[in-house]
Amino acid sequence: MPKLAVVYLSTQGNTKMMAEGIAEGASSRSVDVEVKSFYDWNPEDVALADGIAIGSSTFNYSMHPPIKKFIDKLVELDIKGKVGAAFGSYGWSGEAPVMIADIMRKEGVQVIDPVLRIQYKPTEKDMAECIRLGKDIAEKIKKL
Ligand SMILES: Cc1cc2nc3c(=O)[nH]c(=O)nc-3n(C[C@H](O)[C@H](O)[C@H](O)COP(=O)(O)O)c2cc1C
Repeated sequence: MPKLAVVYLSTQGNTKMMAEGIAEGASSRSVDVEVKSFYDWNPEDVALADGIAIGSSTFNYSMHPPIKKFIDKLVELDIKGKVGAAFGSYGWSGEAPVMIADIMRKEGVQVIDPVLRIQYKPTEKDMAECIRLGKDIAEKIKKL
């Protein structure tokens, strides 16, 4: 079965909810999904997946430094040609998912447009969007 790695950094659980919605959507389309905080992932294992979804909330107009470090390690590995997605909860500016998508694109990852940004805690409607994105990622992975 194709595999999707969902990696996130979330301080209050908002981006985590998004990650879980994405995982739910992808699982419903016969993709093997693992969803964990970046803290519990090894970049080597993420690089083995067919699809990589990375999420971070926005802090001080950027992504959080620890997930930036994680992504720096990930891009030292070969992730070219994989399917990617970037997402994150934000308050007022929401730069983090855009930055993540830019980095992945530079590495030759096929990043799904647009990035998914949700303001603060996802509503039920927002969660439906996350589930939808998970399904879209799964369909794209299956076409690789
Ligand atoms: C100290 C601090 C700085 C923040 N800076 C930004 C910011 O620059 N831009 C923005 O859009 N949101 C900012 N936020 C809002 C968070 O991104 C928002 O609360 C988000 O829902 C947190 O999601 P999480 O629970 O996944 O970490 C900030 C929040 C805090 C507490």
